[in-house]
Amino acid sequence: MFTLEEREFKYISNEVYQFARINLTQKKKFLIVSRLSKRIRALKLNGFPQYVEFLKNNDPERTEFQRMVDALSTNYSLFFREEHHFEYLVESILPQYGSDRLNIWSAAASNGQEIYSILITLLEYKKQSGSMLSYKLFASDISSDALRYAASGIYPQRDIEKIPHALLSTYFLKGRDSSKDMVKIRNDLIRQVRFFRLNLSDEKYRIPIMDIIFLRNVIIYFDKSTKIELISRLYDYLTPEGYLFLGHSESLSGISDQFIQVGRTIYRRRD
Ligand SMILES: C[S@@+](CC[C@H](N)C(=O)[O-])C[C@H]1O[C@@H](n2cnc3c(N)ncnc32)[C@H](O)[C@@H]1O
Repeated sequence: MFTLEEREFKYISNEVYQFARINLTQKKKFLIVSRLSKRIRALKLNGFPQYVEFLKNNDPERTEFQRMVDALSTNYSLFFREEHHFEYLVESILPQYGSDRLNIWSAAASNGQEIYSILITLLEYKKQSGSMLSYKLFASDISSDALRYAASGIYPQRDIEKIPHALLSTYFLKGRDSSKDMVKIRNDLIRQVRFFRLNLSDEKYRIPIMDIIFLRNVIIYFDKSTKIELISRLYDYLTPEGYLFLGHSESLSGISDQFIQVGRTIYRRRD
């Protein structure tokens, strides 16, 4: 691994902050070193000073910059993470919508586990209740690597161990031979999701108005002013009384009074 001096640390953390609003504090130095050392080796450079020079002078299309953002973003996710959110969806939200068409957005979708969990929840709900509800599903992230992963729908077996067998056999295909430790979401389900790259710190998004936004385990990486700006922007992308889900350690307290809390880390647009 390479040594990261203060000058290069400042350059990298500042560039990442300006672009993605990800707040890389001094505590994240080790993370930067471990994740970017691979990039430095791949480019056959000999350390962080040369890497920063490369970013400044040899990256006109910002390809390496995007790779750096990919490497520095934390993509950890799980199927049915925070199960109570999916229960709330089924018990308290979906029945309200009758046969309407819902727009649902996973706004920091990472490798796709979240949007596929939402899709499976919708399909199960429709099957069990006979509901005629229809939906459009959107999944975005700043990381192109994460989106590619998500759109492949392929996961290691260990990722789906906690999913009930009945759901697995309905919605996943098992790999064979050299892929026997992998599973794949059915292609017709993958096609039901629109995946696209979106930077939450952009001022405007080219997306439709949503009924439900999952913004889980991402604002934790942002500072307070970024959270305030983002939440007030998302207000405008939600239908009146639309829902906003946050991650388990996230809250709108001190961030926004445009939402009412209706459940554990579940909010509703105030109208
Ligand atoms: C920890 S994952 C959360 C995944 C999923 N929402 C969950 O709760 O399991 C955080 C994701 O936020 C994405 N992210 C970070 N900054 C972002 C930004 N400015 N715009 C869009 N996505 C961002 C990262 O690339 C990463 O995939």
